[in-house]
Amino acid sequence: MLRTTTCGALSLENLGENVTLCGWMQNSRDLGGMTFIDIRDRYGITQLVFNMNDNADLCQQARELGREYVIKVTGAVVERTNKNKEIATGDIEIKVASLEILNAAKLPPFLIADETDGGDDLRMKYRYLDLRRNPVRNNMVLRHRMAQSVRRYLDGLDFIEVETPVLIKSTPEGARDFVVPSRMNPGEFYALPQSPQTFKQLLMVSGFDRYFQIVKCFRDEDLRADRQPEFTQIDCEMSFVEQEDILNTFEGLIRTLFKEIKGIDLPEVPRMQYSDAMRLYGSDKPDTRFEMLFVELNDIVKGKDFPVFDNAELVVGINAKGCAHYTRKQLDELTDFVKRPQIGATGLIYMRHNEDGSLKSSVDKFYNEEELQKWSAALQTQPGDLVLVLAGAVKEKVQKQMNELRLEMGSRLGLRDKDKFAALWVLDFPLLEWDEESERYHAMHHPFTSPKPEDIALLDTKPGKVRANAYDMVLNGTEIGGGSIRIHDKETQALMFKHLGFSDEEAKKQFGFLLDAFEYGAPPHGGLAFGFDRLCSLFAGLDTIRDVIAFPKNNSGRDVMIDSPSTIDDKQLKELKISTDA
Ligand code: AMO
Repeated sequence: MLRTTTCGALSLENLGENVTLCGWMQNSRDLGGMTFIDIRDRYGITQLVFNMNDNADLCQQARELGREYVIKVTGAVVERTNKNKEIATGDIEIKVASLEILNAAKLPPFLIADETDGGDDLRMKYRYLDLRRNPVRNNMVLRHRMAQSVRRYLDGLDFIEVETPVLIKSTPEGARDFVVPSRMNPGEFYALPQSPQTFKQLLMVSGFDRYFQIVKCFRDEDLRADRQPEFTQIDCEMSFVEQEDILNTFEGLIRTLFKEIKGIDLPEVPRMQYSDAMRLYGSDKPDTRFEMLFVELNDIVKGKDFPVFDNAELVVGINAKGCAHYTRKQLDELTDFVKRPQIGATGLIYMRHNEDGSLKSSVDKFYNEEELQKWSAALQTQPGDLVLVLAGAVKEKVQKQMNELRLEMGSRLGLRDKDKFAALWVLDFPLLEWDEESERYHAMHHPFTSPKPEDIALLDTKPGKVRANAYDMVLNGTEIGGGSIRIHDKETQALMFKHLGFSDEEAKKQFGFLLDAFEYGAPPHGGLAFGFDRLCSLFAGLDTIRDVIAFPKNNSGRDVMIDSPSTIDDKQLKELKISTDA
């Protein structure tokens, strides 16, 4: 080792010891006869002191060091006169006897400090420098600790970690594939896995019984704060289980993570039907850190000659507690918020429950105080509360709009505290969802998800009403995981393919290997996958998963550091038999 200890380890206990440290020059202060230098490594910062009277050459050498130079110093640990309570080594300093420059450094384009002057783009271009900063590196350390905790928990339950291939054939998760041309098979392409779904099911046929993998997945979809084109799943599958076993096993994983990483005893995770989540929160991933539940008002408000309500399929209200004092300006802001094209509501109706007990709405022309009493009763308002109401011709759209408004109000009222955690299982998702574009049903989860046996009869008459043995785990309004009990018999699988509009031939072409495997004794099985990046970013209290990924892509899917994607030269294209003609 070039060093005897690290820059975060020394204290008064080490007084008098002769030590050697290696690290980066953080900053220097020149006080005439004395020069102080902070040396930094992954573990911390230690102050070095050089005295002109002791060794003028050495002191001069120290003064010439530039920021981020890599240095090695040897010297004695001495007590500091000016102690620094902010850092772990703040009681001591090193009286340097020798200094070696291991490498010079160009001046970094931004400050390597907890608070930096570097903008987002610059920091991404020089991500390796950004990763020197404590807050960024700490996120990586957290991620590492979480991965270790996951492995310990699953290993303890006899799960086997198996690596599945990355050059595969299209997987059925519903996003676009990234594809890789095959030089040896001209004109043919591999697809990168959107998930290891089919492989983990094959491993169940192989009798592995309990599989997991912390695995990269690739999806070519529009990016958002919680989406990257390559991301990591904790992917799991179990044999001879029912839904209840899966829920218990993986709730255990999440609670273990909370305990080991954050020291939090997460209470038992509540469960909610998908239909209730939509009815009460207008979302399949409700943020249950706060209530503000939806109240359907159709029965109360219709028939009073107010066309907006009379023509609506859904009239829904929420009670924003304590907001009756909202000014006209604040209410206009909320109206503008729901009318933004991304949300698309036509307007916002409100009712104040004033402190004096009176009720006042924005539609007083149609609803007198007696009518408003019904609103108040339905939404259980108290003096000081504000009721916000949305209405529209398509129920699902109104639910979505009200979900956005509810989350906005939650944020405004400080109800979405990052240090508070509310987990939820959402159960019994619909098996199929109607796709407007292709005008047919798609599997909501994937085509191997088993329908609820009691709903199978509905497949022919009301396919949209069939529920699946599918579940998601939601944390603070983010979907952190999802899975299902799989179909393991040929007949049900054939029935599913039929309803998804696959001909026998198409099904065979795409999933023949899996269907074949199922003929050789497939055990009943099921599983789920957690989005590891999302879990890490929630644990770290961050707004985007980019901050828990060492080398993330930007919002256009680019890695600006290595400048990728990029063109490849004609020779490569030719080898791959990809035409270079425009
Ligand atoms: P699903 O598609 O729900 O299920 O994915 C599982 C979890 O992965 C996370 N996730 C993402 N995270 C970051 N960026 C993305 N682009 C992204 N897409 C998904 C989410 C999600 O809950 N094979 C099934 C699982 C199974 O059935 O066992 C699957 O992939 O947190």
